[in-house]
Amino acid sequence: MTEEKQVCRWAEETARKICGKMAWVRERNAEKLPYLAVRGSYDDRRREKTGPGNRGPEWWTNGFWAGLLWQMYHETGEACYAETARRTEIWLDECFQEYYGLHHDVGFMWLPSAVADYRLTGDKEARRRGMHAASLLAARFNPVGRFLRAWNENEMKNSSGVAIIDCMMNIPLLYWAAKESGDVRFLHIATQHADTVMRHFVRPDGSVEHIVEFDPVTGEKLRTYKGQGYAEGSSWTRGQAWALYGFVLSYLHTGKTEYRDTAKRIAHYFMANIPESGLIPVDFRQPPDPVREDSSAACIAACGLLELARCVPETEQAAYSRAAAGLLKTLAEKRADFSRAGEELIQKCAGAYDCREEEKECSLIYGDYFFTEAVFKLKGGGFLLW
Ligand code: GLY
Repeated sequence: MTEEKQVCRWAEETARKICGKMAWVRERNAEKLPYLAVRGSYDDRRREKTGPGNRGPEWWTNGFWAGLLWQMYHETGEACYAETARRTEIWLDECFQEYYGLHHDVGFMWLPSAVADYRLTGDKEARRRGMHAASLLAARFNPVGRFLRAWNENEMKNSSGVAIIDCMMNIPLLYWAAKESGDVRFLHIATQHADTVMRHFVRPDGSVEHIVEFDPVTGEKLRTYKGQGYAEGSSWTRGQAWALYGFVLSYLHTGKTEYRDTAKRIAHYFMANIPESGLIPVDFRQPPDPVREDSSAACIAACGLLELARCVPETEQAAYSRAAAGLLKTLAEKRADFSRAGEELIQKCAGAYDCREEEKECSLIYGDYFFTEAVFKLKGGGFLLW
């Protein structure tokens, strides 16, 4: 059997395990907006209050549960997944009333929920929600600095000049809105932001900054911040993964080869730093002790690498798809739970290098989401909702 066939067979088998688990996990969490799994049960962001702190329905991960359900609907055709996903999408409407609660992560929130719904079912209300979210994101653009402002004052003081790498995954909402509405302003904003990130976030070695502050008046780059990684100038792995996948997506939506070349540079840096264990640390530049892992970074990077393999000439594809398959197989063997012992799929994720204990070694809904997206992709299918 060829290597490619073996990998495909492994992915089919793993996809079956995911489907088996998701059948009961969906039922148990049908009334929730899950974020963090503690002692085998997912918590519920729906129960948190909206408002300062953004821990309620406007919490940035609240689209991933719907995204997981839409992936399952696409994979199985079972209506229960669509129905549960649609319900969570309606709960998120509350966020549109809370102007101060929303931030640049409206892409993370509404691409996997409403826009996925619209792409799969054509639902008009879902389209309206997606366009509303895209307009809020576009309004965060600073035309002098050519970047999208990340946070509001309640999340970081004096943050009007602050942009972060994660936003590369939010701008596909603007690419979608441009195509959907024919309004090219959404596209201009997305590409100008991506160009700024290419220039000011991506380092010569292919690693990336997490947070960059610009002067909001002149647009001049002022400084960088450590963010969720180990230290300033270090290499937060989830940020590397957002950048890798984000630039592939910008290439897919625009055809601009400089985005694909940037994605390749980031991918080469990421692949060169994968430890022998195949398990991804929270930061590629963290000290060896204490051991801190982030499986979610591995899942996101695997998605980016698989998508990148589809964008390059045949002779280059194997390196990316092999690296992605390696990451996923290691996770499945050492960090996945397909049993009924707990609701989570992927273990040992981390919110940040320094974070509250509960988020240091945990299961996060986006770890489960990107693992599922990657496995479905690896077996040749999958639904690109970005
Ligand atoms: N977007 C925030 C994070 O990756 O933790």
